Amino acid sequence: MADDKIQQAKLRFGIIGNDPQLERAVWRALKVAPIDVAVLVTGESGTGKEFFPQIIHAFSPRKHARYIAVNCGAIPEGTIDSELFGHEKGAFTGAVATRKGYFEEADGGTVFLDEVAELPLTTQARLLRVLESGEFMKVGSSQVQKTNIRIVAATNEDMARAVAQGRFREDLFYRLSAVRIKVPPLRERGNDISLLARKFASDFAGEYRTAPVSFSPEALMELTRYRWPGNVRELRNVITRLAVFAEGELVSGERMRAELPAEAASYTPVKAGAPGSDRYEREREMLFNLIFRMQEEIEGLRRRIEPSESSARALAPHGAREDAPPPSAAAMPTSLVKYRPIAPGIILPHPADDGVIPVTPAEEIPPARTLEDTERETIRRALARNQGRRKATAAELHISERTLYRKIKEYGLE
Ligand SMILES: Nc1ncnc2c1ncn2[C@@H]1O[C@H](COP(=O)(O)OP(=O)(O)O)[C@@H](O)[C@H]1O
Ligand SMILES: [Mg+2]
Repeated sequence: MADDKIQQAKLRFGIIGNDPQLERAVWRALKVAPIDVAVLVTGESGTGKEFFPQIIHAFSPRKHARYIAVNCGAIPEGTIDSELFGHEKGAFTGAVATRKGYFEEADGGTVFLDEVAELPLTTQARLLRVLESGEFMKVGSSQVQKTNIRIVAATNEDMARAVAQGRFREDLFYRLSAVRIKVPPLRERGNDISLLARKFASDFAGEYRTAPVSFSPEALMELTRYRWPGNVRELRNVITRLAVFAEGELVSGERMRAELPAEAASYTPVKAGAPGSDRYEREREMLFNLIFRMQEEIEGLRRRIEPSESSARALAPHGAREDAPPPSAAAMPTSLVKYRPIAPGIILPHPADDGVIPVTPAEEIPPARTLEDTERETIRRALARNQGRRKATAAELHISERTLYRKIKEYGLE
């Protein structure tokens, strides 16, 4: 495909960056657009996944019909079927009139199912039927209806894991992911980080008629070194803060460093005065999150290295992975190489990198057992820190409230 087609699509949708992985994702979207198959877009939160279903719709024969985006994680479980498939008058209390669902509204067009892993199992069954035969029934109706839609779904979850845990139907997973598009995390996009930072700075100045901030080479270096757990969304927030508080200035490396969260701590904003806000607690918390993230990354890596074995392991009961060897630096994703292992499976940020001094001695660190143990502990602590408030806890953990709710039940953390 001609390179200028990729450039045109980027221009049209306002996608900044020349990273080869990103361009490959755009290329795949353009390639698959005219072919009427389901597409699954994967990638971390904030990487720009939402551009892709739009590209696919706009370059498909369905472009003149409707495009409806649904955030599956944001709709309460009790109403999602009715939102997607519609309902009959009187189907439930409050159903005062017949209502069309998105799948009917979008007939002939495209439905984008964001955070698709959040769909309840009962909804998954209905969705599978739509994908297989185009058939569905309104809630409270026994009349089969037909619709002609294309589905593009997105997720930041490891779907193989969701399937292994019985949270997602395997048959639906394969149906949805006829073609997959992976959006790379920001930290892997090299020079794009500077491009995006300058773009966000100039956008802000244009919009609010302020003097633009600019960045020293050291400041740009800091941006490139940071891990960006929140990806492009987080970068824009950082630049917005600087645009406000350093208006018109040339941002130095030091100033930029101050603006970026200490890497590991960026997952756990601890409010001053809240329980566990003392330094020791904070460091332990950081560690838990780090271990949690790392185990996920290692799990992903392992799956890539030994695809057949890993599914068996993912299904094994707790503790079955105790014999797994500690990760060696060579086997780690490059994004983690700047951390040094201090104990098997436990890695702390290098103090020289970000000013975080890892004082917790290795003996005091509870051994990382299974991913579930670590996850349970991370959630328990986050809940305690937020006085049991689920909304705040979910926000802190970068998961949806529904996921949090499910995990609370799953782990008996009520
Ligand atoms: N390459 C990019 N160029 C410009 N803006 C981007 C880029 N990637 C992401 N964004 C912006 O970052 C924000 C987060 O993107 P979004 O698609 O919502 O992420 P995701 O759905 O993967 O969580 C959006 O405002 C989006 O416009
Ligand atoms: Mg999104």
